[in-house]
Amino acid sequence: MANEVKATNIVWHHRAVSRDERESLNGHKGCTIWFTGLSGSGKSTLANMLEKAMWERNARAYVLDGDNVRHGLNKDLGFSPEDRTENIRRIGEVAALFTDAGVITATAFISPYREDRDQVREILPEGHFIEVFVDCELGECEKRDPKGLYKKARAGEIPEFTGISAPYEEPEKPELYINTTDKTEEESLAEVVSYLEKNGFLS
Ligand code: ADX
Repeated sequence: MANEVKATNIVWHHRAVSRDERESLNGHKGCTIWFTGLSGSGKSTLANMLEKAMWERNARAYVLDGDNVRHGLNKDLGFSPEDRTENIRRIGEVAALFTDAGVITATAFISPYREDRDQVREILPEGHFIEVFVDCELGECEKRDPKGLYKKARAGEIPEFTGISAPYEEPEKPELYINTTDKTEEESLAEVVSYLEKNGFLS
């Protein structure tokens, strides 16, 4: 089990530089903006637009993206419920480290299980986990089908495909709700940036 602690004789070290100090050097706060939603809903697009927008205002941001992370850190994981849980657990830990480093961390993972997302919320400092539900009807995601995966899933070529043969549990109280069918990409991005401004993450 991934949550089992195997290591013994380990001691937590206190750091010489605090998150507050790193944040004051950066001129903004670190946080995790957790985009969740179906494949093709617009998570990666928004996360990447956010990184660019932050770059343009001299803020440090970084995107952790489902497909990319599955090429490296999580290449040993598939799409069974257990593997998805472990995928999100590891990403959550990475996002927590990036946040502690004072980075505006944008994650783009389907993260279909509510409990897995809540676990990540738990390990982040209060208020630093910003869940963004990128909502888009299944029919629209299928129409977009940017990677041609829905077509394959409908043809029975991809088992356990989210929305088709595997569940997606919608967030109940996300910090932000964005419906990408009735908003432009720019409008959606503006909502995220405005949340960060209003909540004191950006100076
Ligand atoms: S998660 O469910 O564990 O959070 P993650 O975001 O890492 O998923 O990866 C999703 C991406 O993997 C999709 O955008 C799609 O490109 C690809 N993929 C391949 N197989 C599946 C599947 N069975 N279900 C969902 N996405 C899949």
